[in-house]
Amino acid sequence: GSQPLRVACIGAGYVGGPTMAVIAAKTPPEAVQVRVLDLSAERIAAWNSERLPIYEPGLSELVFAARGRNLHFSTAIDDGIKWADIIFVAVNTPTKECGIGAGAAADLTYVELAARQIAAAADTPKIVVEKSTVPIRTAEALSAILEACGRTSFEILSNPEFLAEGTAVRDLCEPDRVLIGGDLKTERGRQALEALVELYAYWVPRERILTTNVWSSELSKLVANAFLAQRVSSINSISALCELSGAQIDEVARAVGLDRRIGPRFLQCSVGFGGSCFQKDILNLVYLCESFGLNVVADYWRSVIAINDWQKQRFTARILHSLYNTATNKKIAILGFAFKKDTADTRESAAIDVCGSLLQECAKLSIYDPQVPAEQIWSDLTRRCRRTRDELAAYVTLAATADEAAAGSHAIVILTEWDEFRTLDYSKMYKSMCRPAFLFDGRSVCDLKALSEIGFLCYAIGSPDDSRIQLR
Ligand code: NAI
Repeated sequence: GSQPLRVACIGAGYVGGPTMAVIAAKTPPEAVQVRVLDLSAERIAAWNSERLPIYEPGLSELVFAARGRNLHFSTAIDDGIKWADIIFVAVNTPTKECGIGAGAAADLTYVELAARQIAAAADTPKIVVEKSTVPIRTAEALSAILEACGRTSFEILSNPEFLAEGTAVRDLCEPDRVLIGGDLKTERGRQALEALVELYAYWVPRERILTTNVWSSELSKLVANAFLAQRVSSINSISALCELSGAQIDEVARAVGLDRRIGPRFLQCSVGFGGSCFQKDILNLVYLCESFGLNVVADYWRSVIAINDWQKQRFTARILHSLYNTATNKKIAILGFAFKKDTADTRESAAIDVCGSLLQECAKLSIYDPQVPAEQIWSDLTRRCRRTRDELAAYVTLAATADEAAAGSHAIVILTEWDEFRTLDYSKMYKSMCRPAFLFDGRSVCDLKALSEIGFLCYAIGSPDDSRIQLR
């Protein structure tokens, strides 16, 4: 046809922004036009500025190239809905904080609001694509709302997003697979599905585009995240055993991962997984299992979260124990606050828990992260500690460099695997620290042997500590 395909996305967050930027970048402007819509005027203004609201390697180049050509960011949601042929819904779906299912079920408020807005504004047929991660059968609810409130016809597709923060652009450009769930039983359903397949086929090989029924697609996203998190908890559980037994976790992980049935990725032990998705999606799966009476299955997956919580506590307890069981008024340098490298995102970051626990011990924290904005750190810590910023300010300072954080401290604690932490001048930092100088590596970024030679007392997760080995 002569008309370009009009693609809108409700929600300009970590998923909506990068996904739409890649669609725009990978398609000719005469064939595809993209509008990204959000309630937040601040977010949209940032997407339209030189400083994008999220940090992802390679993202700004893509956005700057496509913006104004076939990529547009706007708060005019109703307009965008009317205009579009395909509408992605990529709004947030946090864990419910109160009511039935609090702490486990997904809060679908934003998804429902987006659906109602689509229903109210749309006056021509639309394909609505569920991009947010949702519990199974959400598409059914969406469809019911759209049918009941709308004036036109809607086809609902499920198209969960598998990108990982920090590598979002690469993941979107070269996805392992694209999953699209649709109603395969009706002609209109099949047509809608084909329209979305064709959009992805601009840059994704057809054999990597899977089509399934809607519920398989919705469930697959939860299961994928549960399996990934389960690998982290599995290796973390073994890291504790290594520390006590004299085995070395990286040696074990390598030996195990070379088995082709297991594979080497996601076998890196750490202070624990974070991010907005793993815990939320597992909780979601757990809730789903329980609601079907599958309590044994629910318990199995819940234990993945239990190990993760335990790993964070274990790490903090180890710090405290090493500091002669008191952290009171001791300066501790925290290196890294993001939940992983190459993102400024701190949602569910292990750093929040570790810092929160150290603050309960009245430690004085000096925090450095290369990307996370100061405001974010303050808001995470005030929320976690239930103290005001003024109250916390006596105990927390934000440092502009790792050196500044370390100066005068008793310990360095590494909580994010930023590349720059691998090449810091640790001997210089050592000279500026109190004695004995400790280093706790929660992300396996340091060469412990080299650091020990400098004089640090080191602890890395999963490395045996000679004084603690209990060989029988
Ligand atoms: P986010 O919080 O970064 O972005 C959501 C955006 O939606 C916000 O900017 C918010 O203002 C906007 N919004 C909410 N309700 C709206 C409405 N009714 N109309 C217009 N805008 C509205 O969330 P994020 O991280 O992008 O996640 C979105 C979904 O994608 C979630 O369901 C998440 O589970 C899923 N997901 C997230 C991944 C990640 O790495 N962050 C990866 C894969 C899936």
